[in-house]
Amino acid sequence: MQDGMAFVSSGVPGLDEVLGGGLRRGFVYFIEGDSGTGKTTLGLQFLREGVRQGERTLVVSLSETTGELATAAESHGWTLDGIDVRDLTGKGDADGAPVLFHFSETALEERVGQLLKALEEARPQRMVLDTLSALRILSDRPGALRRHMERIQHRAHQLDCNLLMVDTAFGEELLHPRSLAWGILRLERSVGDYGPQRRRLYVPKLRGQAYLDGYHDMRIRRGGIKVFPSLRAIPDPAAPEARTVSTGIESLDTLLGGGLLQGTSAALLGPPGTGKSTLVSQLALALAGSGEPGAVFLFEESVETFFRRAQGQGCDLGSRLENGALRLHQVSPAECSPGEFAHRLRRLVEEEGVRFVAIDSLNGYLHAMPDDRFMHTHIHDLLSYLGGRGVITLVTMTQTGPLAIGQPMPVDLSYLADTVILQRYFEAHGAIHTAISVMKKRYGDHEHTIREYRIGPQGLVLGEPLTRFRGVLTGVPEYVGEESPLM
Ligand SMILES: Nc1ncnc2c1ncn2[C@@H]1O[C@H](COP(=O)(O)OP(=O)(O)OP(=O)(O)O)[C@@H](O)[C@H]1O
Ligand SMILES: [Mg+2]
Repeated sequence: MQDGMAFVSSGVPGLDEVLGGGLRRGFVYFIEGDSGTGKTTLGLQFLREGVRQGERTLVVSLSETTGELATAAESHGWTLDGIDVRDLTGKGDADGAPVLFHFSETALEERVGQLLKALEEARPQRMVLDTLSALRILSDRPGALRRHMERIQHRAHQLDCNLLMVDTAFGEELLHPRSLAWGILRLERSVGDYGPQRRRLYVPKLRGQAYLDGYHDMRIRRGGIKVFPSLRAIPDPAAPEARTVSTGIESLDTLLGGGLLQGTSAALLGPPGTGKSTLVSQLALALAGSGEPGAVFLFEESVETFFRRAQGQGCDLGSRLENGALRLHQVSPAECSPGEFAHRLRRLVEEEGVRFVAIDSLNGYLHAMPDDRFMHTHIHDLLSYLGGRGVITLVTMTQTGPLAIGQPMPVDLSYLADTVILQRYFEAHGAIHTAISVMKKRYGDHEHTIREYRIGPQGLVLGEPLTRFRGVLTGVPEYVGEESPLM
């Protein structure tokens, strides 16, 4: 609550947070957007929240008939019970005869008169006017519409009523009624070349209160709209005390200069088949066992495959999954927007106490969200959000081709992550081996060596540092030392 003024809940999950608490009691808000962006759905959700709270609610519908509204509500599993519906569409009067409109100032005045009458009769605490566009077409003088809207706004304010005006036209012209609004919400949607349409919302204007700036992803499913406040806009809490956590593999700890520091991110880069997911399962098990409950998001394989492989490598995740110290989530492509995914992570961190997050792999994640031009910024926001809450984040990325060098990365993880671990193939004495090294660590020192590793029934086992390599920077180093130190 700010300066003693109460907030009213919008009834849309996530939206109150975006608005810095909710809607101000007694004020007018505009809901703008093209056709099909969810304006009517939002309006109904807002009114139903009022009904839930025992308030008087009114919808003056100028574009959809009562029947159409009821059908829309039904598709969400809702009813219009408790909502006073005034059908001013003119699509049919009581005896079913169509009402003809003349487009004139009088027609506009007549409609506004009916609207004000409905407001007086219902004296609602929440009202939705859907849509303003239906009034706009009655008059070609923007000044006239604005004057009428001022009257309605004034009366609603006197009655302490929250009024949502739904509109499809948004412009900046001087006489546009939106300048009367306390706040404006804009709903948008876009369709990419592939995948489902994406919806998002932003707040072009909100007077007198702090709110979350920028675009926020949203979704409409049966049950209504959900908004996913962008992680970027959420303020960080005070930085928690960080300790270094063991990876459970002694020589990997040595390589990492002790282990993984809480609140930092690590990228695991390597060509296909080098064992990135194997390392993810081993780290997840070790961390879950040392008080860092984890969540692993699988973008490429099923939970079953991940679990079985780990089991075959002596890494039994069963008991950790059972006691909730570890969660495995398979995310199928096109299932959710970056904003929705971020929101799932946020819930896990803020409500379920998750302290370790792994994304396997970022390639899969990027395929799931092919159209996003801002992926780099999004990953950056994701890592900073998690870092700010002391979470250890592990992100794997498959580098294409066996050389794994000189290939552009879709998102430069080596720059975004605090620690970069490289897994590589190398050649020695006519055979292919695998090696691991730490390329960078932002906080603290690490070992600057290359160690061979093998994956077997004991999982990933590291050898002693190898010193005699040629062509390390080619991406396929060749070991030129004696055969004996090799595993
Ligand atoms: N029950 C539902 N389940 C899933 N999606 C739905 C459901 N009902 C509506 N939608 C989606 O929400 C979209 C927006 O619906 P809504 O009627 O609220 O939009 P609107 O902005 O009011 O459109 P208009 O300007 O044409 O009145 C629909 O096009 C549809 O894609
Ligand atoms: Mg509508």
